[in-house]
Amino acid sequence: MFLYVFAILVVFLSHFIWKNRYLFNTDFSKNFEEDASIPLMKNGIPFAMMNAEELFLEPRKFAAKFKRSARARLFFMNSYCIIRAKDAEKILSASSKHLTKGFVYNFLHPFIKTGLLTSDGEKWHQRRRMLTPAFHFNILKEFAEIFKEEADQLVFDLKRTVGKVVDMIPISTQFTLNTVCESAMGVNLTQLGNNGLEYRNNIYSIGKALVYRSVRPWLHIDFLYSLLGYKKQIDEILVPVHKFTQTIIDKRRKEFITKKTENVQEEQVDDNENIYMGTKKKRTAMMDTLLQAQSEGLIDDEGIIEETDTFTFEGHDTTSAGMTFTLLLLAHNPEVQEKIFQEIQEVTDGRDDLTTDDLNKMNYMERALKESLRIYPPVPYISRSLSEDVLHDGFLFKKGTLMEIFIYDIHRDPEVFPDPEKFDPDRFLSENSVGRSNFAFIAFSAGMRNCIGQRFAMLELKIMLTKVIKNFKILPVTKREELRFIADVVLRTNHPVKMRFEPR
Ligand code: HEM
Repeated sequence: MFLYVFAILVVFLSHFIWKNRYLFNTDFSKNFEEDASIPLMKNGIPFAMMNAEELFLEPRKFAAKFKRSARARLFFMNSYCIIRAKDAEKILSASSKHLTKGFVYNFLHPFIKTGLLTSDGEKWHQRRRMLTPAFHFNILKEFAEIFKEEADQLVFDLKRTVGKVVDMIPISTQFTLNTVCESAMGVNLTQLGNNGLEYRNNIYSIGKALVYRSVRPWLHIDFLYSLLGYKKQIDEILVPVHKFTQTIIDKRRKEFITKKTENVQEEQVDDNENIYMGTKKKRTAMMDTLLQAQSEGLIDDEGIIEETDTFTFEGHDTTSAGMTFTLLLLAHNPEVQEKIFQEIQEVTDGRDDLTTDDLNKMNYMERALKESLRIYPPVPYISRSLSEDVLHDGFLFKKGTLMEIFIYDIHRDPEVFPDPEKFDPDRFLSENSVGRSNFAFIAFSAGMRNCIGQRFAMLELKIMLTKVIKNFKILPVTKREELRFIADVVLRTNHPVKMRFEPR
């Protein structure tokens, strides 16, 4: 029996090593002279003993110790831990090269399969081409109407919290999930009769499971992951998550078919305005782009599901982190709040309506948002795998080397952002940005695989801030130094982020 189990293990281990052979390339090891003083990173075992909070802090310790990007062997895999803009630029600016994500993204496959975030090669190119128009300026203008309605609802909800301390996290996730579902997916969650609470809670469990797996090298082997019962656990968590997104697809598909039938006449009359659905009156959802593409045979059911899962997750969780930490920073910086309020008053001249033109003029607010995304980047870390050998900084990095890009630490380079923890929106004034690398602030990543939802997110955050600051003064409860972040796909704390809202 023991021999039998042993033989099976050897077969699966050999298969795993063969599948990932480029990671263990011996040739490459000869060329790979790791930075000597990080023995802990060598086999990754100590990582498996750490809790999520300690794991979050580990790259910070690395950054403090090395003060430069450095080569490391992580779980026996060769990697380059990037904490400086010039090194990130080498990888992210290489137009069509190094677009493949690091191995850790594979652990997201059971959740979002190979949608836009996790796919590569021709599949990624084709999907990016297909989906880019769904975030066109004209469509975002339509989405702005939804953002305003949702922000009004948020203000209404916050008014009921006056005099109380609130945890901002569930409020932000509810707001951003409603917003992305109604705009990009074209489905109103209230009408759907499902506010996505179970979905949002399960997203945390998925993040925890992903981190747990990624720091335990033996669980990288699918067979062992299954054998030890972890796959069953994650599959159970994923059932309601996938059910939620499937309900959204079903609802929009019904409406898409009905509206398409009704709009045939209009489509023939007013062709210029037929961006995706053949009408200029209706708000165009990204989901319609997918459904239209399916009717042209460009994507199948499986493709629609993976993109819906990808965008529902990426479109709400990141923006929600951006929202929570921006409000927290503003709570601690009342003078910045006041300046934003003055700017809103000047631009809107006391009007209640809010146009995209108005929002474009809110330059101080934009700088405050960027500064907040610099200090607390919602995606603190990304990873790529080199698609070919790269000579950089006098070293040869072989194909397959993992490029671990720590956005959180790049944003804290004291040479670029002196006194990095200080919240100072004026860092982003053009006169203060002279000579700064375009890769010094990469909250939305950069290059060809940058965030497709960047303008969507900034517009949503600007509208939310305008409405909240017009109505309230935000008062601090949780102190910045009390924040305890945990390792996850998105920046999270392991505790509530509390504040108070006082009417203006
Ligand atoms: C403040 C909010 C946001 C931040 C900070 C953010 C940040 C990022 C970052 C850093 C990446 C690169 C990920 C990587 O290389 O692994 C990314 C990719 C992506 N983001 Fe965002 N994001 C935000 C909002 C959004 C929104 C609102 C959407 C959709 C509505 C979205 C959809 C995506 C998608 C689909 C990708 C993958 C793009 C590709 O690989 O082609 N994001 N985002």
